[in-house]
Amino acid sequence: MPKFYVTTPIYYVNDLPHIGHAYTTILADVLARYHRTLGDEVHFLTGTDEHGLKVQQAAQSRNTDPRAHCDEYVVRFQELWRRLHISNDDFIRTTEKRHTAVVQRLLQALHDKGELYQDEYEGWYSVSEERFITKKELDSGEFRQVEKVKERNWFFRMSAYQERLIEHIQEHPEFIQPETRRNEVLGFLRKPLGDLCISRPKSRLTWGVELPFDPDYVNYVWFDALTNYVSAVGYTEDDKRFKDWWPADVHLIGKDILTTHAVYWPTMLMAAGIPLPRTIFAHGWWLMGEEKMSKSLGNVVRPLDLIDLVGVDPVRYYLMRDMVLGQDASFTPEAFERRYNSDLANDLGNLANRIAKFIRRHFEARVPGLKQPADTTFDEALKTGAEEIVRQVPQLISEMRLHEAIEGIMELVRQVNTYLEQTQPWHQIKADKDLAGNSLYHAAEALRIAAQLLHPVMPNRMEAIRRMIGAEKVSLNDFAWGRLRPGTPLGEGEIPFPRLDTLTAASQAEPPEEQPENVVTFDDFQKVDLRVAEVMAAERVAGTDKLLKLGISLGEEERQIVAGIAQHYEPEQLTGRRIVVVANLQPVKIRGEESRGMLLAAEGKDGKLVLATVDDPEMPAGLRIG
Ligand code: ME8
Ligand code: MG
Repeated sequence: MPKFYVTTPIYYVNDLPHIGHAYTTILADVLARYHRTLGDEVHFLTGTDEHGLKVQQAAQSRNTDPRAHCDEYVVRFQELWRRLHISNDDFIRTTEKRHTAVVQRLLQALHDKGELYQDEYEGWYSVSEERFITKKELDSGEFRQVEKVKERNWFFRMSAYQERLIEHIQEHPEFIQPETRRNEVLGFLRKPLGDLCISRPKSRLTWGVELPFDPDYVNYVWFDALTNYVSAVGYTEDDKRFKDWWPADVHLIGKDILTTHAVYWPTMLMAAGIPLPRTIFAHGWWLMGEEKMSKSLGNVVRPLDLIDLVGVDPVRYYLMRDMVLGQDASFTPEAFERRYNSDLANDLGNLANRIAKFIRRHFEARVPGLKQPADTTFDEALKTGAEEIVRQVPQLISEMRLHEAIEGIMELVRQVNTYLEQTQPWHQIKADKDLAGNSLYHAAEALRIAAQLLHPVMPNRMEAIRRMIGAEKVSLNDFAWGRLRPGTPLGEGEIPFPRLDTLTAASQAEPPEEQPENVVTFDDFQKVDLRVAEVMAAERVAGTDKLLKLGISLGEEERQIVAGIAQHYEPEQLTGRRIVVVANLQPVKIRGEESRGMLLAAEGKDGKLVLATVDDPEMPAGLRIG
């Protein structure tokens, strides 16, 4: 079986994961899933970069030790990946023994070969980038957390590999992609390449892998981090496993870490006598657009918040579809909304619904059969369209033209919509039920293929579509036309992509230009703490015929409220009922009785107050209502 080994950068645990990290990881996931369905054996590695000054300082600033800090932060990455349906085969942490042992062995081997030497070094160190910067870079003012450093250190004879590296890049056009990045690296290599400082004295940094031949030092964090790509697959630990996976097919990275990957890493590998990875692919930057906020998405600015609103798959789709690999892209809620509504809600979601509804209604919810003899021209064109894109996708994926692959698949989806307009099964059904069945079969089969081709991008929602059209049992990697079996019962299923405006309407609406006076903002509303409360006791307040005092329970807490409902409810009607209260109202005294909170009621027809009550057992006292 062909093998495919794909990696992401290992992310620093000095920060919370954000959309950029999510992007690279989803991209790797989509590629991994494509290669799996195309029949490759896949190894997908991601992980965290846990050593170095940056992490040490992050831990310090939180008054915790680095290991505890890492243990806490790594979970945030792992949880986000689980949430995003990331199908990584391994997750490496650079603080794991299986990694540090390999780093030390690699260092020792290079030391034994005479690739390392000690020297005095003076320069500026950027903690945020974790590397020494040049005078010119310093003067640019673009670097944060810069420290002047003068110290004795260990160096790797990187300069000795400059010529070999240039040759390798020239002879292997696929090595650094896309081409702009390749040219950038070749440009960088026109100037003399220096040696690489690979140590930090323990006096300055303790949080790192100790040099096996000099205990006064720890390893430079980038040397340590890059080694993860080989340590994770058993370098010097398990030769068979290492041979199985190495060299990696693609290291996916952002363009910010091109030099470390395209210069440091290959020269380290050359010195150690390890073959180079096939491809280093540097994608562009997600920028936060400054377009005005979208209507229905309100003030969602953090893209990951979208997941709560619309689910994971649409976010995966948007990120993959809207970034041309290699270029920068701008994230705006507006673009997201447009993309979602046009591609997912309209083209794809509506199509799945239409097909499923029609089959449920006219064909007892079973996949209809083909009408013999002979296909019509429309049938033939649809089938050809599907077969065409099935042929193209593997090629586009291997060339990293992911957004084009997705666009091609969406064209097939639109072609199915066109096909239904051409054949008009809702008219066919009146005269010739078999013919209508034939059309529906074609539409469903083409949709089945499209759903499978999109599966790596949106695994959950495409499973839902497959279920809806009775294709659940067709193997995911079977793209041959005709696999959908007539007679198969359709599965349950709802609208896979409700329109965004219906989804978000209530809470997220943008305020109109001219606001009526009685309008509150969403934020105003959010301030009100509405709770389910259970009435434990109720009695009249002496000296008035309007007020009842209620003892209520908010689950964890009990309190008293006074309410003007004595003319509408007898006290004994109220005990045991669950009502809705505003829990964070300022406490007041009414007729000498303390009231902490206010209950909700509606004014009925003849001025009668009716309490808002809750009868669902799933809403016990204390639950917040929003
Ligand atoms: O650099 N758009 O880790 P890091 C797209 N530990 N991608 C983005 C992005 C954005 N706005 N922001 C971040 C490190 N990324 C090192 C790597 S590897 C041996 C060591 C992604 O936490 C992109 O992949 O700073 C970038 O390269 C990576 O996050 C940097 O993550
Ligand atoms: Mg970074």
